Amino acid sequence: MLQIDGLTKIYRGEVRANDDLSLVVSEGEVLGLLGHNGAGKTTLLNQVAGLVRPTSGTITLDGRDAVADPAFARRVCSLQLQAQAPLTGVTPRQAIEMLGRIRGGGRQRVRQRTDQLLAALDIGEWANVPGERLSGGIRRLTAFCMAVVEPGRLVMLDEPTNDVDPVRRRLMWQQVRQLAADGCAVVLVTHNVAEAERSVDRIIVLDHGRAAATGTPAELRLRASGDLRLDLTLAAGLAPPEPPSWASPTTVTGNRMVVPVATAEAQQAVDWAQQLLATEAIVQFALNPISLEDVYVGLTSTAEEDHDASVAA
Ligand SMILES: Nc1ncnc2c1ncn2[C@@H]1O[C@H](COP(=O)(O)OP(=O)(O)OP(=O)(O)O)[C@@H](O)[C@H]1O
Ligand SMILES: [Mg+2]
Repeated sequence: MLQIDGLTKIYRGEVRANDDLSLVVSEGEVLGLLGHNGAGKTTLLNQVAGLVRPTSGTITLDGRDAVADPAFARRVCSLQLQAQAPLTGVTPRQAIEMLGRIRGGGRQRVRQRTDQLLAALDIGEWANVPGERLSGGIRRLTAFCMAVVEPGRLVMLDEPTNDVDPVRRRLMWQQVRQLAADGCAVVLVTHNVAEAERSVDRIIVLDHGRAAATGTPAELRLRASGDLRLDLTLAAGLAPPEPPSWASPTTVTGNRMVVPVATAEAQQAVDWAQQLLATEAIVQFALNPISLEDVYVGLTSTAEEDHDASVAA
């Protein structure tokens, strides 16, 4: 559905917001776009939607050159902007139905789909409340409904779960998966790595405009050193314990020490932690599977050092 090759965007001849990006997204697939503030995620979506012109590289939508034909790109794509939608003077129901009609949906179908979305996201009680009286989360959910009421074949969502409570975030993720099940290709930007790990098919981590890593959540987790992590909460005022030889590299942040552990060393790790607990060097410990968030932080902080090093060089 979407193919990007060698995409580069340089703003005003100086900010390299996207740097030689290539990716493919197919029908029925949800691609998660992760990356630090300013990594270039919004820039990427805006170029695909024909709102920003690439400096170089190609964007192909459904086999057609989207850069040469931005009007076609806007027909094929639905985009939920990162900025909050202005809803002054309209209710969620009016705003959602209006977008459905603008995108060519028939009156009855748009009404049914609006009712279905309002119910699925549990926001029916605000359906007829004027926009200026809505909370930030309900506005965000309304903007999501506006983007997907009459979805294009490529749906792009820029931080759709921001401001949304945990229960409704789950409801929204169900709707995202449903869009893919209905045959849409979905590209979704999020800072919530744990949610992305559970709900997307593939992930691209952007770092200073470049793709730092690409793969399924499971593939990316394999990049971590160790399959498990031992979390130690250090006793107040005591220096962190000397890590055993099998336990490097460790990180210490405040009173928290994190030790990567291979599954084969799990027993040793628990024995060591129990000794530390017995001598009151730590107040508690937990042994957990490595999460994608651990990998993400590792990826971006290493990349940060590389970046700094290359700047220094
Ligand atoms: N219109 C613009 N003119 C000049 N520079 C811009 C413009 N838009 C974005 N940038 C710069 O391009 C880089 C990428 O910005 P972008 O908004 O794509 O990041 P992002 O990954 O979406 O970040 P965030 O997570 O904060 O939303 C940043 O350095 C930003 O300052
Ligand atoms: Mg952004």
